[in-house]
Amino acid sequence: MDVSRRDFIGAAGGFFAVSGLSGCLSAAADRAAGEQAVFEGRSPHERLSLAYSHVKVGLETPFSILHISDTHLCAADGRESEFKRGFAKRRTAVFGGRMEEALRDSLSWAKSNVDAVLHTGDLIDFQTEANYELVKKYFGEAPGMFGCPGNHEYQRRSEGDRIRNTGEYNNLSAAELQKVFPFDLHFNSTVVGGVNFVSIEQTYGFVTGDQVERFHAEVKKGLPIVLSMHVPFMTDEIWRASCRFWGGCGKKYRSAAIAAARGDYKRQIEDPTTSSFIAYLKKEPLLKAICAGHLHITIDDAFSPTAREYLVGGNFLFHGREILFT
Ligand SMILES: [Fe+2]
Repeated sequence: MDVSRRDFIGAAGGFFAVSGLSGCLSAAADRAAGEQAVFEGRSPHERLSLAYSHVKVGLETPFSILHISDTHLCAADGRESEFKRGFAKRRTAVFGGRMEEALRDSLSWAKSNVDAVLHTGDLIDFQTEANYELVKKYFGEAPGMFGCPGNHEYQRRSEGDRIRNTGEYNNLSAAELQKVFPFDLHFNSTVVGGVNFVSIEQTYGFVTGDQVERFHAEVKKGLPIVLSMHVPFMTDEIWRASCRFWGGCGKKYRSAAIAAARGDYKRQIEDPTTSSFIAYLKKEPLLKAICAGHLHITIDDAFSPTAREYLVGGNFLFHGREILFT
């Protein structure tokens, strides 16, 4: 997909014209009658917790994107089993019940403030017909939104389903999911303002040989590249923060030592295709940034001499990051 600046603005302008309202007001207009909005008295941008970053690639005309991740929509209705509806209820409580509103506010803000929206996965928490309908609805309303799937996109959560962190598990529902998302889930490229956003399905810490091959084909185009994926490639600081956040409460720092790699991080080190891809990326001058999510924390760190890696906190908590490219 090639979203030139003019194309994106044109598509978004067409969308604004439907309601005759500014993008920022449309979220309130979309809200279901009687639904109590969170932070009702605050202006739309104040309902978001935004981080701001700046990537310098030498462009003639600047542009910006909104990077969001991990919305974890939990919709389920009568088309699902009682088991799955019960699961949806528990997960809705886990994520606070404001997930759709957070997404709606984010996209509403994005319409009038940025040139494209990047979503790095876990848009849905698990597979239901109602979640699929929300995916289609929001991608339909935000023509400049693109990205990649997260591990939760592949979670079926049917009674007896055993989740495995493998490509084989993802393949069980890859074809079904592909009908719902408007881009190639395994690998896709979107050019915005002269920057090539290459998004890959990377949900458990490893990449595949064909993704590496396709990435090299993208490099041949000669454009600056932003790599987008769900699970970050760990640096010391990102791994430390991940261990800190997911390690639970009640521990003050008494050592700054980096914990031993495990899970996704261990796979990145031990999988030969992935470890050699990471080593190559660290020397690729066209790589200007990496965008990821999954950890539900906002952090950025140097990945290579030319690229920083940006993680954005959970969109279910109204988090997002505006990234300016110049
Ligand atoms: Fe995730």
